[in-house]
Amino acid sequence: MKTLNSILSLRSLITDWKRQQMSIAFVPTMGNLHKGHLELIKAAKEKSDKVVVSIFVNPTQFSEGEDFENYPRTQQQDIKTLVTYDVDLLFLPLIEEIYHSEAKTMITVADISNLHCGKMRKAHFSGVATIVCKLLNIVQPDRIFLGEKDFQQLAIIRLMVRDLNIAVIIDSVKIIRETDGLAMSSRNGYLTAEQRKIAPNLYQGLCNAADKIKQNLQSFREIEQQQQCVLINLGFKVDYFSICRANDLLFADKNDKELVILAAVTLGKPRLIDNIYIKRWS
Ligand code: PAF
Repeated sequence: MKTLNSILSLRSLITDWKRQQMSIAFVPTMGNLHKGHLELIKAAKEKSDKVVVSIFVNPTQFSEGEDFENYPRTQQQDIKTLVTYDVDLLFLPLIEEIYHSEAKTMITVADISNLHCGKMRKAHFSGVATIVCKLLNIVQPDRIFLGEKDFQQLAIIRLMVRDLNIAVIIDSVKIIRETDGLAMSSRNGYLTAEQRKIAPNLYQGLCNAADKIKQNLQSFREIEQQQQCVLINLGFKVDYFSICRANDLLFADKNDKELVILAAVTLGKPRLIDNIYIKRWS
């Protein structure tokens, strides 16, 4: 695996690959790699000749008071993992390489960025859209691989790629779960042993809500309220638990066919997010 820190050297290698008609898949990450990332890399390998992974803890997507400084940085371990997975190129830039000291441009995908996680984390999705757009401009891959766990992030990137006519195919990869259902995340490492036992109830709550939607006996707002109460009683602080339309993430009603139940909670220190996608036929 080649590791490059500069945009210039990365572009030169990618140009070389493209000259040889090779297809390029890109997996952007902030490091602290877990099985969820590895599934993205596996999917990327299946669909392309070369796989590029970036590790960049992006400062613009952390709001004030969030965990930018303390975000887990496990570079040596991550590099070993990427070598094992036979990644072709690791892009490992410094902040100065990515952000001009007098940068004036940020990308904001309107409306959807202010919902759900965007209500609490004001600048977060603008930071995400900006870094993903910049990385796509730098790497110029044929395909980008993103996880479905960050469903709102995925929906926002889809809209950005559509609106800015970015020439890339977006491949989304299913949530990878621990055996007890907890969605894999770099933030799970912050859970105490006691909280770790409680955490899978978030997924259980989503499954219960999905069952109730299928039974069709209660309104969506009632189902949300009930599941929130269950989670609060178990010790979660619930930021939101919402049954939404999968395309624009606005509150869904019974006529909507493609739904996603989105949830964000805090359990002690870490904030956990999870979701379930539901397609209804009747
Ligand atoms: O999902 C992430 O890890 C980040 O938001 C991303 C897409 C790598 C942008 O920094």
